[in-house]
Amino acid sequence: MYYFRWLLGFLHLLVWGSIILVHAIPPPDPVQCNRTICTLSNSYGAWGDRKDCSVKSVVYPTTEEELRSAVAHANKNKLKVKVVSQFSHTIPKLACPSSLGHHDSLLISTAKYDSSIEIDSVNLAVTADAGVALRDVIDKVEEAGLSLAAAPYWEGVSVAGMISTGAHGSSWWGKGGAVHDHVIGLSMIVPGNESEGYAKVKQIAAQDQLLNAAKVSLGILGVISKVKLSLERGFKRSITYNFTNDSSIENNFMEHGKKYEFGDITWYPSKHTAVYRYDSRVPMETPGDGINDFLGFQSNEILISKSVRASEKLFESTKSVNGECTLADTTLWYKKQIGNGLKNNGQIFTGYPVVGRQGKMQTSGSCLYSPKTRIDASCAWDPRIKGLFFYE
Ligand SMILES: Cc1cc2nc3c(=O)[nH]c(=O)nc-3n(C[C@H](O)[C@H](O)[C@H](O)COP(=O)(O)OP(=O)(O)OC[C@H]3O[C@@H](n4cnc5c(N)ncnc54)[C@H](O)[C@@H]3O)c2cc1C
Ligand SMILES: *[C@@H]1O[C@H](CO)[C@@H](O)[C@H](O)[C@H]1NC(C)=O
Ligand SMILES: *[C@@H]1O[C@H](CO)[C@@H](O)[C@H](O)[C@H]1NC(C)=O
Ligand SMILES: *[C@@H]1O[C@H](CO)[C@@H](O)[C@H](O)[C@H]1NC(C)=O
Ligand SMILES: *[C@@H]1O[C@H](CO)[C@@H](O)[C@H](O)[C@H]1NC(C)=O
Repeated sequence: MYYFRWLLGFLHLLVWGSIILVHAIPPPDPVQCNRTICTLSNSYGAWGDRKDCSVKSVVYPTTEEELRSAVAHANKNKLKVKVVSQFSHTIPKLACPSSLGHHDSLLISTAKYDSSIEIDSVNLAVTADAGVALRDVIDKVEEAGLSLAAAPYWEGVSVAGMISTGAHGSSWWGKGGAVHDHVIGLSMIVPGNESEGYAKVKQIAAQDQLLNAAKVSLGILGVISKVKLSLERGFKRSITYNFTNDSSIENNFMEHGKKYEFGDITWYPSKHTAVYRYDSRVPMETPGDGINDFLGFQSNEILISKSVRASEKLFESTKSVNGECTLADTTLWYKKQIGNGLKNNGQIFTGYPVVGRQGKMQTSGSCLYSPKTRIDASCAWDPRIKGLFFYE
């Protein structure tokens, strides 16, 4: 009974939270420096104190030539070097130049190397600077009446960071749901000898076998400066979630993947529930201006994120099966009520199917754009609060 009341209160907050919420804090800058040292941290909070990753200096190139100079400087002076984006969202610590100390390390941030997005409508391609945010690419592409067929669900990534780790959405059709399978060229800065100025830009075209190695290279082969992606004519998506019994999920999933171009299944084994996403491409003329503002990536009241984390910990430490199950029920019930964050008219969920443009239906991350003015909401995992965290 205690839990039940508490949960009602929690739900109240949750519902109101998402209606009245306007002020929130954006994610912290992953690079923090004082006069002697810089610290790199992961924006998801998986690592990030001085012991995890400290570097001697950080550079913020703004052009390809400045990026080349940074690599040349590192090569000439035998510094350990890695690249990180403005987002620093990848969970393995691969963006850190050295785990052994900071004396001979250089971090290159692409946070300010993000000005160029060139669309080639004739050849259906877009070329972007490495540090450009995925959302900026998508918006530019959609403005030109085109669509990027594959993208991760989370939009808080840079173009180069995203392909380097094999980021993906969901699809078995065509080239598939992984962004790197849509890469048709890139430029990479690699070390050179003295007469080459210690670093050179290598252009890798679609036919070049090197492209397969270079596009998903975890930042260890060279510094990517530009990425070229193939595009398609603009299209819309029609999405319906079916929250249903998980019986026969093992027999259903192949059929599901074959039937729906962007099909996806979320499985809640302890609830014997599977959420099938019926998700197909529809023509531009189809009515609907929906968005997929995925619930997990919306701003959350900090109080709620902390309460959910704290109650999970409490249930865990007191081995309260009922508590955990009730919390799971509530979460699932809430997700169902709001269609996981789908919004028919861009404002609110009123029923299925929700139809909207590809650029608004594949990728989201509204908690990224929280204004700085007040501090009562954030991304649910913000490392400055004891909020939600999924162990990998
Ligand atoms: C909340 C959240 C949701 C996520 N959702 C998804 C999802 O839906 N689908 C999915 O597949 N993944 C998802 N991810 C993972 C995410 O896509 C990857 O972590 C992605 O690499 C992050 O991109 P970034 O720009 O932040 O890269 P960073 O973390 O900055 O870098 C990633 C790696 O790429 C290297 N790198 C970066 N820039 C360059 C460059 N210019 N040249 C060479 N190497 C470079 C870095 O050294 C590092 O090793 C999610 C992560 C989080 C935290
Ligand atoms: C810089 O930060 C490091 C790590 O937090 C700390 O040890 C050092 O004293 C700081 N130096 C200055 C000049 O503030
Ligand atoms: C530098 O590298 C280029 C290309 O590999 C090569 O042609 C040239 O001879 C090298 N120069 C020196 C001084 O090693
Ligand atoms: C949801 O899936 C069940 C099977 O688990 C099916 O019987 C039902 O018709 C589906 N609902 C919709 C709206 O498609
Ligand atoms: C799920 O479906 C199976 C098979 O139809 C049935 O045996 C089971 O009772 C159902 N479970 C729930 C929770 O509805």
